[in-house]
Amino acid sequence: MSCVIAMAGKGGVGKTTVSALVVRYLTKNLNDPVLAIDADPNSNLGILNRFADELESNYKYLLVDNEAGMEHLSRRTSGKVDMLLMVTDYALRGLRAVGRINDMLADLKLDVRQKGLVVNRAPETLSQAFLDEVEQIGVPLLCTIPQDDNLLEFDMERRSMLELPDDSPAVLAVDSLMEKVIQKVVA
Ligand SMILES: Nc1ncnc2c1ncn2[C@@H]1O[C@H](COP(=O)(O)OP(=O)(O)O)[C@@H](O)[C@H]1O
Ligand SMILES: [Mg+2]
Repeated sequence: MSCVIAMAGKGGVGKTTVSALVVRYLTKNLNDPVLAIDADPNSNLGILNRFADELESNYKYLLVDNEAGMEHLSRRTSGKVDMLLMVTDYALRGLRAVGRINDMLADLKLDVRQKGLVVNRAPETLSQAFLDEVEQIGVPLLCTIPQDDNLLEFDMERRSMLELPDDSPAVLAVDSLMEKVIQKVVA
């Protein structure tokens, strides 16, 4: 069975960006095939899940970028998620959306093995108020990603994030996030 990494979080916080950088890490640093799925709410998630179930055995990693919420994940044959990356920007609204998703998880037929918080567009130090709220939500903080102007430029020029320089701040942050994630999921 593949190792399933899924994204959750409110719109616009950086889930697709982190997904792309996760794929970048997995393909550049490990020689393992990655199946990346964009679970867009406008697509037919039933069909998507069926194909994913069939394709999955060929891939070591399955990455699911969720714009659609968590429900469709629980309809997969195996409702297993090895690592749920809950993404927020540096704002209480985004963080509270993570809190709501986290509360909802218990009601879903979803076997979330581990979860971690990713704070995107974060300053170097997080405020105590923000950290207090993180603590209250109870999802362990895995990493912060700084604002990275290269992303803006690449977005504008429609260039692939796989081409971002290796030392681009967001790339470095996700690389170290993934080192932790890999350690956690294999342990
Ligand atoms: N760390 C960052 N630095 C600069 N721009 C970012 C960063 N993270 C995301 N963005 C930009 O913010 C926008 C929304 O990000 P996106 O990944 O599409 O969010 P989501 O998938 O959660 O809706 C995109 O234009 C993306 O390039
Ligand atoms: Mg997205």
